[in-house]
Amino acid sequence: MYEQASHSLLNEILVDLKPEIGNMRLRHFYTRLGANFYAIHSLFHLLYGGRPDFKEQMVSLVETLALRYIERSPPLRRSDLARGKDYNWFLNQKWIGMALYCDRFADDLKGLRTKLPYLQDLGINMLHIMPILDCPPDNSDGGYAVRDFKRIDPRFGTTEDIEALAATLKKRDMLLVLDVVVNHTSNEHEWAQRARQGDQKFQDYYFVFDDRETPDIYEETMPEIFPVTAPGNFTWDEEMGKWVMTVFNNYQWDLNYRNPAVLIEMIDIILFWANQGADILRLDAVAFLWKKMGSVCQNEREAHLLLQLMKDCCQVTAPGVLFIAEAIVSPGEIAKYFGEDAINAKECEIAYNATFMALLWDAVATKNARLLKQGIKNLPVKLERATWLNYVRCHDDIGLGFDDRDVQLAGYDPVQHRRFLIDYFTGRFPDSPARGMPFGENPKTGDARISGSLASLVGLESALASQDEEAIAAAIKTILLLHGMILSFGGIPLLYYGDAVGTLNCLEYLADPSKAADNRWMNRSTFNWSKAEKRHQTGTVEQRIFSALKKMIALRKEVTAFADFDNRQLLMVDNPNLLVFSRCDPQNARNRVLVVGNFSAEAQTLPGDALRQHGFFLQESMKNLCSGERIVLEGDAIAVPALSCYWLAD
Ligand code: GLC
Ligand code: GLC
Repeated sequence: MYEQASHSLLNEILVDLKPEIGNMRLRHFYTRLGANFYAIHSLFHLLYGGRPDFKEQMVSLVETLALRYIERSPPLRRSDLARGKDYNWFLNQKWIGMALYCDRFADDLKGLRTKLPYLQDLGINMLHIMPILDCPPDNSDGGYAVRDFKRIDPRFGTTEDIEALAATLKKRDMLLVLDVVVNHTSNEHEWAQRARQGDQKFQDYYFVFDDRETPDIYEETMPEIFPVTAPGNFTWDEEMGKWVMTVFNNYQWDLNYRNPAVLIEMIDIILFWANQGADILRLDAVAFLWKKMGSVCQNEREAHLLLQLMKDCCQVTAPGVLFIAEAIVSPGEIAKYFGEDAINAKECEIAYNATFMALLWDAVATKNARLLKQGIKNLPVKLERATWLNYVRCHDDIGLGFDDRDVQLAGYDPVQHRRFLIDYFTGRFPDSPARGMPFGENPKTGDARISGSLASLVGLESALASQDEEAIAAAIKTILLLHGMILSFGGIPLLYYGDAVGTLNCLEYLADPSKAADNRWMNRSTFNWSKAEKRHQTGTVEQRIFSALKKMIALRKEVTAFADFDNRQLLMVDNPNLLVFSRCDPQNARNRVLVVGNFSAEAQTLPGDALRQHGFFLQESMKNLCSGERIVLEGDAIAVPALSCYWLAD
């Protein structure tokens, strides 16, 4: 859009730019800056327009974008242009992600390169390496308390190692996902150190207060994220003699985005990692970016403006790079991280589908799909060119973030139902086979979340202990059913590193005092390569899970109806145990798949009527893609075995 005020400011800025920038050949840069400048300027003005140094800050932002563009390597610039042409590339069904810890899966970045064949064997082609930046050894929050945003922790390797890994991945047609922890720094970060020494410039990077007056006002409305290990949202810093805002752990200082210098630093960091070859950046804890007194300090409008700015700036310098929003918030709020006032994603192209994840766990505990169906029905419509990251487990706890109205519509009392789920997954509920632990139990609110590995939560651990073959089979089926769902739902499936071989809870963390109080570590075990080897041995648990997953993954890549073009339709069938939805290839309506998940421990029937109404089963039989066999209507219904999933095609 052409707008006089922003256009003349752009001209002034271009004149003011350092001569070495002005003289470089920046054709694509200037074109994109011109196209995005109106948006960047307007957003920057909305956030910082009242400041006397507004123009200097604007110049500094544009300089940052230009300097990082100059540094962007020719292959990455070519990839930007190619992705610009094939702009729906990431909606394709061929992408399958996995999240893993570099040191727990391999020793270091070099070692990780040698493990790529394992990932490719399974069919993984998008690799999220959990944070690898320099952190204090003890107070690291698993890598999310960063001490230096541009330095790889020497335990993992060097910048050259990550560049080499990025290049290897590219050759293998695999994507690299890296984290940028945008909301906070470690208290040992240089900015925090300088703030502690009394440097006002850096105290302004954080929320720092002389006394409790303002913190107390904030506390009236701010929830606690880690109520057990880090109660309260402020920490007294002895050296500084002041209070500092620490929403997560007390050693994680929240950055203050009311200061434009903070935003510019962070955009610089984002572009730095884009230039190291990351295809996708996972922006951590984005819901928390803007703090406002009197609010819960999550999902504030300004947090969205900041993300839009980050996106627009990335669009200028590294347009081929995508963002993942890690916003584990209520169903209605999550979709807003794609961008609100747009048709196409204008914030993050990808977001964790925390709602679907939590709903799947509900179906596991209740053994029916009531709430799952209700929750999916009310999932907000998402934008075009935006996609979900669908996952079953990750390195964090499971929050029961459903909408209370959905819980009621499914026929449950929200408080009692959440209590049941916690009891079920922590094994307190009679006969529950799950072996999880409560996380962040808050006696003030009665809230709790759940920790534990996928296999232990679905009952594999208890079944193996009692050598109960039937229970082992049920646990394996549940693991496959859950993956069958995330592979077909629409979006990019994200597996978690131990899950393809049935990794159980790991209690080693209890021996480490810096981890013992945080039971999320029970699901962050060292990958056991000799256990993984058993995937080659017929009949082992590892082989039963791995080979079935591998098959489903390969299949998904072939089914064009599984690409994400908002092409899912939920079928409201009467049987409460079944989740049924159809996926259709928008290019070719005849390519469609009916996905049926049975969450009950008993076989279920799905009436032919319901299917014919939606144009399925007109031929009396359909092919189950997962097994290759044809399913025939029996007594005008199809029988769906217990805890299993069908992908049916004509
Ligand atoms: C994200 C991470 C989590 C971390 C938190 C604070 O939610 O996934 O592990 O504790 O941010 O950085
Ligand atoms: C995340 C989420 C919270 C989660 C925590 C990490 O950002 O907001 O639900 O439990 O941080 O565990």
